[in-house]
Amino acid sequence: MPVTAVADLLSSLREPLFVSSPVEAVASEVRSGLTATPKLLSPWLFYDEEGSRLFEKITELPEYYLTRAERGLFTEHADQIIARASEPTGTDPAPLLTLIELGAGTATKTGILLSAAIRHQHTVVYQPVDVSESALAEATENIRANIPGVTVRCQVADYTSQPLPLDRLPNTRTLALYIGSSIGNFSPNDALDVLRNLRAQLLPGDQLLLGTDLAPGPSKSVSQLIAAYNDNEGVTAAFNKNILVRINRELGADFNSDAFEHQARWNASESRIEMHLVSAIEQTVHIPANSAGPALTLHFKRGESIHTENSYKFTMARVESLLSRAGFQLTQTWQHSQHLFAVNLARAI
Ligand code: AVJ
Repeated sequence: MPVTAVADLLSSLREPLFVSSPVEAVASEVRSGLTATPKLLSPWLFYDEEGSRLFEKITELPEYYLTRAERGLFTEHADQIIARASEPTGTDPAPLLTLIELGAGTATKTGILLSAAIRHQHTVVYQPVDVSESALAEATENIRANIPGVTVRCQVADYTSQPLPLDRLPNTRTLALYIGSSIGNFSPNDALDVLRNLRAQLLPGDQLLLGTDLAPGPSKSVSQLIAAYNDNEGVTAAFNKNILVRINRELGADFNSDAFEHQARWNASESRIEMHLVSAIEQTVHIPANSAGPALTLHFKRGESIHTENSYKFTMARVESLLSRAGFQLTQTWQHSQHLFAVNLARAI
């Protein structure tokens, strides 16, 4: 499709949609998680304004290699990634990419890919989706200020709970970005569902760029992995505990976050890092009645944990099988020299 037709497409787009993660969703998530045995909370709860800020800080920590490794791969290979995603097919000899990003956050790494897309096709529509409105606002600001030619349309949504109504632009090829190892938060079955939901909204020939953190091996130790989730400065601990601060603020609970200890554990059989908040003492916490149900009194034994996050680590065999079971075919993988991280391009089939 000719680049000049983009202007027509843009005028047909819906207005950006802004729906904050409702307090009702927080209430029901917290209720079901903290009345379960063992107790757990869903990692999307991390990302209020403070949590998003702390996550950005994590990405700059010396121990947290993931962001640096992925950014390095983008810096080195962005033009090739965009070129391969834009490869013509018989039915589409001159595809024009639209970039959609699931869990975009502040989209700091995405700028590298957007700049490559601009070099390749001069103009591009970018549709970031995230649960954090503040992160998306920052993403939009950064990109509008720094990368001329990009049209940004934000969508505040939880793409994990329901098939996301992606506003797929007609007559362009979608390149869906699912980077930063966000897929790692999901169990193998849930990850498959997320990718199948995404695939259901794409057409054959559309593209997926999937960032995956890699399992430990000869050049990647378990202790390096654990350190990435238990940094010296305590930023990850603060990020983990912020979930309790958020519950206090939004639901009026009385958690004492100092009475919980941050832990990062390697679960080898599941190939995942687990984050826990472990109760340092025996204690009771109250959550007042809310839209999701009556008041709760929660008991914690000393040493009892709230499991707050899983971060799965992949082998390339698992990446390939996940993609193919979701209806994608792996085209090319770019790997960090020490096999820390992989960026995978796949085609919807
Ligand atoms: C945003 C899910 C990729 O699992 O590495 C960072 C979140 N948790 N430090 C990850 C996280 C603790 C992160 N993801």
